[in-house]
Amino acid sequence: MKKHEMPESVHCGFLSCSFSFHSSVTRRSACSSFSTVANGFVNQQFRKIRPAKVHSKSFVHHLAMSITSTKTRYIESDFSVFRISQDVKEVEASFGDYFVEIASKAIEKQGSFTLAISGGSVLQCFSNAILETAVRRERVDWERTLIFLVDERYVPWDDPQSNYGQLHKVLQASGVEHKVKVFPVNTSLSLEEAASSYEQDILSCQNERDFIKVLHQPVKYQLEKVPAFDLILLGLGEDGHTASLFPNKELLDETKKLVGYETSSPKPPLERITLTLPTINHAKNVAFIVVGKGKAQIMQRLCEDHSLQYPARLVVPIFTRKEWFVDEDAMSQVVAAQEAPREML
Ligand code: 6PG
Repeated sequence: MKKHEMPESVHCGFLSCSFSFHSSVTRRSACSSFSTVANGFVNQQFRKIRPAKVHSKSFVHHLAMSITSTKTRYIESDFSVFRISQDVKEVEASFGDYFVEIASKAIEKQGSFTLAISGGSVLQCFSNAILETAVRRERVDWERTLIFLVDERYVPWDDPQSNYGQLHKVLQASGVEHKVKVFPVNTSLSLEEAASSYEQDILSCQNERDFIKVLHQPVKYQLEKVPAFDLILLGLGEDGHTASLFPNKELLDETKKLVGYETSSPKPPLERITLTLPTINHAKNVAFIVVGKGKAQIMQRLCEDHSLQYPARLVVPIFTRKEWFVDEDAMSQVVAAQEAPREML
């Protein structure tokens, strides 16, 4: 297995990285395209960190939104926007506003909203911030919303580890489950079949408009078109995994499939089905939700360590910046976050 190392001088969209163009995002191409421009950026580390009020128009728009409901400060680099909230409740409010806006815009523009959601604390945040908060729940047109799973544990739906099982429970509890269209992974099939049939589910429900023609790229994905989810919600494991993409796994090299499977996951259960990097990196919006002291070390490493061993670092969306909904605890070891202005808005 190739060691996913990047030359010391380059980064991928975290606080210590900035560059203005974006071609394809496979590691090799990332390495090759970055290394051509990297040197010029080393000295620019952290130069791109700006307190909220000097951001782009859309940022100001978000800013406007955030004043009404959260105490959040922003740090951005060319690939990431970090919304750092004081605590989990504020993260939920900040994320909730963002979610409602993305959903409304997609439905306004194309009549549908395709969401892919991760399990664990991400699902909990979604439930608290959206489903359990009437003011936001009622602003989402659930009949025009399609919910997919970013990844699934290879267990029956009634197993407590089932992401679909958990999602169904919270949708049911909030009374929207009969309105929204949810696409579970068929875990009664073999692992391989479950992954390929989920790929067919994704392909079958996307109409022409939702597909993105894969741009030219140094290292071609063997994919003609990739469905562009309107929003993909990701969590972050302490080893830097996201979805069911774990460090040093073959699945990180996948360039043909939209959905893959893992047979020996370091996080139980062993067998999992997951969206692949090509699918994640073609989404129109990608947001990480990461809270708590338990994630401080991995956030520090992601923001300050340049190796590519962390799968979350390979999430570099082509059409947008990653949005990070984080709390102060999760950012407590990230120097840049500590140095950045603290004024809350
Ligand atoms: C899963 C998830 C996985 C999760 C991370 C973080 O199904 O296990 O999709 O990728 O997001 O493991 O989990 P927490 O956010 O619960 O810490």
